[in-house]
Amino acid sequence: MPESIERILGRHGRSPDELIPILQDVQAAFGYIGEPSVKAISRYLRISENQIYGVSSFYAQFRFTEPGRHGVKVCLGTACHVRGGATLLDMLERGLDIHCGETTEDKRFDLDRVACLGCCALSPVVQIDRDIYSRMTVNRLTELLKNYE
Ligand code: FES
Repeated sequence: MPESIERILGRHGRSPDELIPILQDVQAAFGYIGEPSVKAISRYLRISENQIYGVSSFYAQFRFTEPGRHGVKVCLGTACHVRGGATLLDMLERGLDIHCGETTEDKRFDLDRVACLGCCALSPVVQIDRDIYSRMTVNRLTELLKNYE
């Protein structure tokens, strides 16, 4: 059974210092922090929803929108960048009609950039979900995306 927000809150005290640990737990349980969770946290800690959004905006780890079914990450570390990573990202942004950090309207893909995936010799590298694809080209990437529904 998936964990409930009430259960998560019950594991924490009501001090505002608990905000970040609570947000981490909510995101771990649900994959993102939805509006109902923010409202519940606001009531529990007695802080405003704006304060919650304000504080969490300092932390890149938190997302407040439902994630797509597949996460696409383009490496833009130095090695990948010089070997065409930016071209791949540009192609994805235009092809999926979203910007980096966004989710497609049909919730099929999230698009993000990463600093280095640790396999620079195989650049440019793209990660889709848990799979790493090396020596990527625009054509290969276009074909590859068709496998992810
Ligand atoms: S720079 Fe892309 S894997 Fe290291």
